[in-house]
Amino acid sequence: MKSITEKFGKTPHLPSLWTRADALKVHADDPTTTQPLVSADFPVLSDKVFIWDTMPLRDIDGNITSVDGWSVIFTLTADRHPNDPQYLDENGNYDITRDWTDRHGRAKMYYWYSRTGKDWKLGGRVMAEGVSPTVREWAGTPILLNEQGEVDLYYTAVTPGATIVKVRGRVVTTEHGVSLVGFEKVKPLFEADGKMYQTEAQNAFWGFRDPWPFRDPKDGKLYMLFEGNVAGERGSHKVGKAEIGDVPPGYEDVGNSRFQTACVGIAVARDEDGDDWEMLPPLLTAVGVNDQTERPHFVFQDGKYYLFTISHTFTYGDGVTGPDGVYGFVADSLFGPYVPLNGSGLVLGNPSSQPFQTYSHCVMPNGLVTSFIDSVPTGEGGTQVRIGGTEAPTVGIKIKGQQTFVVAEYDYGYIPPMVDVTLK
Ligand code: FRU
Repeated sequence: MKSITEKFGKTPHLPSLWTRADALKVHADDPTTTQPLVSADFPVLSDKVFIWDTMPLRDIDGNITSVDGWSVIFTLTADRHPNDPQYLDENGNYDITRDWTDRHGRAKMYYWYSRTGKDWKLGGRVMAEGVSPTVREWAGTPILLNEQGEVDLYYTAVTPGATIVKVRGRVVTTEHGVSLVGFEKVKPLFEADGKMYQTEAQNAFWGFRDPWPFRDPKDGKLYMLFEGNVAGERGSHKVGKAEIGDVPPGYEDVGNSRFQTACVGIAVARDEDGDDWEMLPPLLTAVGVNDQTERPHFVFQDGKYYLFTISHTFTYGDGVTGPDGVYGFVADSLFGPYVPLNGSGLVLGNPSSQPFQTYSHCVMPNGLVTSFIDSVPTGEGGTQVRIGGTEAPTVGIKIKGQQTFVVAEYDYGYIPPMVDVTLK
């Protein structure tokens, strides 16, 4: 297997590398890049459903958008099963941890609405049962297209396979609430190709998901980010000099980190409607560093491209580590080169005392960062946890050049609109 430079050297752009040397600069518990402790007495959005990945309605330029004064969010959602015999432990108590862990297999897209940018009311499922072609409806992005309220929902249709798809519908408002109508015809867009992006046949643990379409503020073209892994058979990747970076003596050993092959993918639309896409080489690779760069997204600020992506402790390679949270990179042009923010890439990680308190952070252009609560330790010694499945407190960060700073904390699930669109 070739190194990233050899593999993509002749393509229009070379991926930027998140190197092992960069990752050695990741430090948990730096207060400027650590999410404040989430208290174990958090409120839950619903005792009927778990929610996790949260996708605020936005326009194609990335602005969080309300319609007729109503904020709308989409969430990955799964029923809670407190009374299902399948989720009772040997003492007859509800095993919420197991129910929560199983949720990915039954993830469905739901929506919520609000007048205040918090206090979300459940709207229901976006697509009726049977509309989506696969079992799992995984993360993506809802885009408000126009003043008629048309919405393109890009998401990932998973099991069998993983296909980036889209479905068009409409948002309708009244004085009393919001409903979503349509969302009846799912259009497959593309799948991993095995040449640039790893396929299931190459690696059963491959990732190919989480579409995030956007218009490049500089060239005006329609593009899409997504999560991928670098193509090639599992175990065949090379962690060479470029992937290692400038490490101190004694840090050359890469262990088994060839199994970590995450990348941030990009595709360009061949049409204005975003129905026809061409995959391009990844913008960023993390070979030898990390196996997952999930839910990639941009903030365009000060003429720069701030690329954010979420990742986990457990997906780091041998010899490197970092907290669960959101990582970021910055470039002067869309195709890079990208430099890790704060030297390391870490932008907002969980504190080491509560390593799983939140996940799936989304950095919005107003500097607010939304995420969900996963599990928070309770009681003495932190051996017990309380499962979340609900919105975390929103965090404010300031993005300044190549650095970021935590500067504020807001209410649970606070996602205020940046633009309001009056529907016609
Ligand atoms: C992030 C994530 C996404 C995926 C979804 C599956 O939390 O892993 O990458 O679409 O959750 O539940």
